[in-house]
Amino acid sequence: MNLNRNSAVQCECIVIFGASGDLSFRKLLPSFYDLFRLKQLPENFVILGVSRTAYSNEEFRETLVDALKEYSRLQHDGIEDFLSNVYYLSLNTSDEADYEKLKRWLDTYKDKQDKEYGTLFYLATPPSLFSIIPKSLAAHKLNDQNSGTKRLVVEKPLGRDLQSAIELDALLHQYFDEKYIYRIDHYLGKETVQNLLVFRFANGLFEPLWNRNFIDYVEITSAESLGVESRGGYYDQSGALRDMFQNHLLQVLAMMAMEPPAVLKADAIRDEVAKLLESLKPLNEQAINHDLVLGQYIGSTVRGKTLKPYREEKGVDTTSRTETYAALKLSVQNSRWNGVPFYIRTGKRLPTRVTEVVIHFKQTPHPVFGESTPNNKLIIRIQPDEGIVIKFGLKKPGVGFDTEEVSMDFRYADLGEMKITSAYERLLLDAVNGDPTLFARSDAVQACWQFVEPILEYQKAEHSLYGYAAGTWGPKEAEDLLARDHKKWRYPCKNLTDTHFCEL
Ligand code: BG6
Repeated sequence: MNLNRNSAVQCECIVIFGASGDLSFRKLLPSFYDLFRLKQLPENFVILGVSRTAYSNEEFRETLVDALKEYSRLQHDGIEDFLSNVYYLSLNTSDEADYEKLKRWLDTYKDKQDKEYGTLFYLATPPSLFSIIPKSLAAHKLNDQNSGTKRLVVEKPLGRDLQSAIELDALLHQYFDEKYIYRIDHYLGKETVQNLLVFRFANGLFEPLWNRNFIDYVEITSAESLGVESRGGYYDQSGALRDMFQNHLLQVLAMMAMEPPAVLKADAIRDEVAKLLESLKPLNEQAINHDLVLGQYIGSTVRGKTLKPYREEKGVDTTSRTETYAALKLSVQNSRWNGVPFYIRTGKRLPTRVTEVVIHFKQTPHPVFGESTPNNKLIIRIQPDEGIVIKFGLKKPGVGFDTEEVSMDFRYADLGEMKITSAYERLLLDAVNGDPTLFARSDAVQACWQFVEPILEYQKAEHSLYGYAAGTWGPKEAEDLLARDHKKWRYPCKNLTDTHFCEL
């Protein structure tokens, strides 16, 4: 979907704010390095790391070497060549006047160029700086689109609720037009999430079935086996709904359920995503009471390892009511999906790390071999062991007509040399090349907040929070959520084809 790549100006100059932070060291710079190794970056690219820490260019490069080796996807040659394009500028990002240094650096860079080039400003900083940086750039005319394209990349959290998301957009729009703002949701950078569109709209076998006439229900699961690790301080203010549900999982739902775009253009696709998110049936108090299950992990021992309760994690309030698990039944109000329930769950400290979409098809109109014949299922595995499995009924060899569920599968691992790129690699490259397709547009982000807002409000009134033992599939109440509709969650293994062996 590199739709706008040929027409848009490339950003040769990449400025990373928060360059000495975790995101920059673990994701951004290693991904830029991989892109460099793949010869995907513009020939004359430069990366300027900006943050408060006082590094010289040399010190920054030296500090980076280990991170590049540890976190890059490809082999480690060419590090010196890559680093010769990386520079560093120490700046007090909260002080508007200090941006004069950045202006001088960029002016010197500009004087050396003989053609138009673009600049990408990447905010890998705490959200408290999201307002200060664009304003300070504007104060020094560094957002001026008349002297080369300027793009702004922002990372979540894009607000804490609808009101703060609207305010953030209004603020960014004071200095950058929407078309220059690239909001990262790294789930959209995942190859397997993008493949939802190709799988649905390129296959005559599946496209006609993708609606209420044939689909009984849909599950979306994003499970993590890790706890909050070193991010307790952040997570305790966020919780599963804000951290995973409002953004990543609703975006996956949109890709799974949206209408086909009229043409393969960025805005045509983003229009359909926004339309779908705006079609989510708003949750009233009764629906929240009935269809939402929130949980928090408590301590347990898994395979001999003691796992602490969430409330004892570093940075977490010992009386915290933050949810580390959420399961929700929701519906989409349009003619394609009317009456089809979508069950979505996410949690930390579950038995394994897996993200997948499961489509449960309806029984045949006349189940001649008995009601117990298994329904067809389609499992679209986002990660790990990426791939697709179709489950269908087979006649058990022998006397009679007993049926048995069997599978057909495709695994990305079987593609051999054609490796899946990382989500950040894909998104960074698209931002450099000016393709906004896989970035969350303002209306879509606001529609997600709009949907989640009543839950956040209701949570304040102390919605039930159920404990679940770390390393299990969450509170029992989440099972009941489906059981009362005579449905069941799938309990996935790490390995996609799990008929004979379930790896956790
Ligand atoms: C991040 C969340 O956005 O996504 C983390 O803040 C979560 O809490 C992570 O662990 C999951 O991403 P992935 O790509 O590992 O599924």
